Amino acid sequence: MKILFFGTKSYDKEFFSKTDEDCPDADITFIEPNLSPETARLAEGFEAVCAFVNMDLSARTINILHDCGVKLILMRCAGYNNVDLEAAGACGITVMHVPGYSPEAVAEHAMALVLTADRHTHKAYIKCRENNFNLSGLMGINLYGRTAGIVGTGKIGAAMARICRGFGMRVIAYDMYPNKSLEFVEYVEFERLLEEADLISLHCPLTKDNYHMINENTIAKMKDGVILVNTSRGALIRTEDLIQGIRDGKFFAVGLDVYEEENGTVYEDMSDRILEHSTMARLLSFPNVMVTSHQGFFTKEALSAISRTTMENAAAFAQGRKNGNEL
Ligand code: NAI
Repeated sequence: MKILFFGTKSYDKEFFSKTDEDCPDADITFIEPNLSPETARLAEGFEAVCAFVNMDLSARTINILHDCGVKLILMRCAGYNNVDLEAAGACGITVMHVPGYSPEAVAEHAMALVLTADRHTHKAYIKCRENNFNLSGLMGINLYGRTAGIVGTGKIGAAMARICRGFGMRVIAYDMYPNKSLEFVEYVEFERLLEEADLISLHCPLTKDNYHMINENTIAKMKDGVILVNTSRGALIRTEDLIQGIRDGKFFAVGLDVYEEENGTVYEDMSDRILEHSTMARLLSFPNVMVTSHQGFFTKEALSAISRTTMENAAAFAQGRKNGNEL
């Protein structure tokens, strides 16, 4: 099976080159451009393409892939809100993803964001390197004894709930489908979670129903001095309202691994360019906001699992087998 691998980074090549056993018949061509309507024609002559969370798989792209003869889209990620599944279905293209590779990788990064933003470790590091051992501006709050509110208790939310419990926090959660394995979690309505949580961590997928679920109204219901973390999808938060909330002093700290404007920015080195989006520039200007570039998944264990499952997906498709990872 000829697979065109879009948006290749050095680490992708490293991990996907070790997957010969998972799909022996795969012939992967690695290219740097991301998949978009402008680059989709490169897939001419390929049976499958491999794409990621930061790419444009709208109906326009998918129709071009269909014209090129593509039969299979291999998403090397869990989330697929950037894929027009209806368009893929209409073209008879199968879309497969990697539903769970290392939930702990993302949950541990969520907690890293909480701790960094709360205890200002990023600033302390720079201060100490400058021989400035003064503590002003570095005061944090204890997590022990406080309430963590987990929104979405699937694989990643459950891992985050366990981490918060390990910190001695009371854990409450909101999910339409409570996770029975989390016997220490108290499930509450979303509104009550907003009212009671000292730490709110978002772990639900982005859907039409929860777009901008964190907005002016829901922020107003949160406790003053709350910590908010989003490692899920940027559009769960209305960024303009978040910025206003930060300005109003509502948040003790905010940690964002994902943000609304990330497409076109994320995974790119833009250090010699001027940021076009003013909301990102404003977020970066706040001393209590910690931003990372959609790296929650980025551990050796996760990349190894992603590459193996992606190629197992390719093998299952080639053999006409359903393995449950079809979308
Ligand atoms: P999952 O499918 O195991 O769990 C999602 C949970 O959210 C389910 O229990 C579902 O019932 C619940 N849910 C759905 N809509 C909800 C809503 N409106 N309110 C509350 N709960 C809701 O998914 P998993 O593996 O835990 O991943 C969660 C999300 O994390 C993904 O959809 C993706 O957006 C994000 N993610 C981020 C990564 C990163 O690198 N930052 C990497 C992987 C995933």
